[in-house]
Amino acid sequence: MTVNEIRAKYLEFFEKRGHFIISSASLVPHNDPTTLFTGSGMQPLIPYLLGKDHPAGKRLANSQKSFRTEDIEEVGDNRHTTFFEMLGNWSLGDYFKKEELPWLFEFLTDEIDLDPSKLYVTAFAGDERLKLSRDTESAAIWKELFAKKGIDARDVVIGSQEDGARLGMQGGRIFYYDATKNWWSRAGAPENMPAGEPGGPDSEIFYDFGLPHDARFGDECHPNCDCGRFLEIGNSVFMQYIKKSLPAPEGSFGLLPKQNVDFGGGLERIAAASENSADIFAIDVFSDIIGLLIHFSKKEYTDSRYARSFRIIADHIRAATFIISDGVKPSNTERGYVLRRLIRRAAQHALKLSVGDKDKEDSMLVRAAVVTIEKYKEVYPELDGEAAYKEITETIWNEEKQFALTLERGMREFERIASTGHIEASEAYTLFTTHGFPFEMTLELAKERGIDVDEEGFKREMKKHQEISRAGVTQKFRGGLADTSEKTTRLHTAHHLLLKALQVVLGAHVKQRGSNITQERLRIDFSHGEKMSKEQLAEVERIVNEKIQEGIPVIRTEMSKEEAEKLGAEHEFGAKYPERVSVYSVGPLDKAFSIEYCGGPHVSNTSELKGTFKIQKEEAVAAGIRRIKAVLQ
Ligand code: ALA
Repeated sequence: MTVNEIRAKYLEFFEKRGHFIISSASLVPHNDPTTLFTGSGMQPLIPYLLGKDHPAGKRLANSQKSFRTEDIEEVGDNRHTTFFEMLGNWSLGDYFKKEELPWLFEFLTDEIDLDPSKLYVTAFAGDERLKLSRDTESAAIWKELFAKKGIDARDVVIGSQEDGARLGMQGGRIFYYDATKNWWSRAGAPENMPAGEPGGPDSEIFYDFGLPHDARFGDECHPNCDCGRFLEIGNSVFMQYIKKSLPAPEGSFGLLPKQNVDFGGGLERIAAASENSADIFAIDVFSDIIGLLIHFSKKEYTDSRYARSFRIIADHIRAATFIISDGVKPSNTERGYVLRRLIRRAAQHALKLSVGDKDKEDSMLVRAAVVTIEKYKEVYPELDGEAAYKEITETIWNEEKQFALTLERGMREFERIASTGHIEASEAYTLFTTHGFPFEMTLELAKERGIDVDEEGFKREMKKHQEISRAGVTQKFRGGLADTSEKTTRLHTAHHLLLKALQVVLGAHVKQRGSNITQERLRIDFSHGEKMSKEQLAEVERIVNEKIQEGIPVIRTEMSKEEAEKLGAEHEFGAKYPERVSVYSVGPLDKAFSIEYCGGPHVSNTSELKGTFKIQKEEAVAAGIRRIKAVLQ
């Protein structure tokens, strides 16, 4: 089945079961400072999972464009991709396990025709320390579903990934894993979740490709083993909990106002399962691109020297096409940098296949982008039309050209260094950082000439650099928060201090009209009629810095909307809030410096902001609306 067929079937299936089909959100998240790209279907729905009413009702479904930066380096094997579509269905406090699991099973076995004997499932084993019980309810539902297909599904307890490698299959069909495997939140396991973050136990479903176990991944195979026999194709998260600010384990989780279901299924993976192909790159959306590359390169996909390059080009250009259509341009920071890396990495592998290009018309990367546009434009209108075509193809071609120039200069430098007969780690590193010359190319060219390169030394240099710059781009997060959380969380709290300081200095008419926080800076739009004076700016900075120095606790409280309103809690103009709200106060509620409606996350004390608060810019964005950009230095 093609990707387009499976997507259509899925949406129809859930529409028939009362779900409203929402459109995919942009890959560039709006008002979510915690992540560079949308990496799961639930991300744009966070406010609704936290309790806010969704205008389209309690049952939603869609196919969400998703991109996971941390998988870039993994691409090249038979199953990792950076971009993927996540099929999603959500119950916002409506149905729960008894509906979710049977629907999913019916969809996979009856609609997609997957052989039930090739499906294996997992459930949460429970966690005594966190006072979270074992999900026997899901296991019982699965048992019954398999029984209807004539399969006696035994449940077995595994625990962690390591336990799995030791214990193996044990004749099981339903496997209990601990919170490292069967718990989902944007930040991962329970202990990594910041206060205010929703999450819950989950139940995953795996497809068995029946490949022999690869012992490099452990003595025994089990569903969560990474050897390639099993592929996770879907995950039903039972979003019931919210992390509280109290230290773990005592009372570290509370119940969300609603018991939600957040299902995410990998569309491309389901397509691979429907073809019974362990190689995800055999499905139509990739094989069309790879077919084109085979034709022009006259190389074989089955040739192990080239498979990786074929896959990297297919994945990276498909991803780049979608990212560009959501308005990102190649650059040296954040999203632009990720896009640049995708295109350049693809270009590098095109050279490996000897399909480097002289002009736009025969650029393999541009051709691959055009195949992608054709495949998806009916479902994703942002890829359709003249303007989109031009933007996508020109962006890719321009970047490819620029990279070619970089390589030319890098080559000259490489030759100079290589003429000494040895390449030091620091030289390879300078080639990479100063000349943009990929390390893989240094390695390859050196090998051709029989020259040694200190590979380990290079990796050490890289690591040192990453730690120093903390650029983080190469090590971004899974579906969400994770390692940027610290920087953005600090700026988030600074944002609250700033809004209050603006009200103190300019007056009570100041209301928040928009905001955006990245790892580097915060931005606030607020109502105020005129340009701020130097003195006013200095006074606002002084107040914020004073509050940082005072080391005031930041406290989260849940209360009714009325109570919050009575306390005068700040909220964004025009935003709608549920009956029960989460409120963050800087200082105890009765003598707080600032109180805002907010889902968090925040630091627990203003002293954690460290550094000095500095306003970088104050400007007009619309009549009566000013914008400030500020940093913690
Ligand atoms: N949000 C869940 C995931 O990404 C479904 O796996």
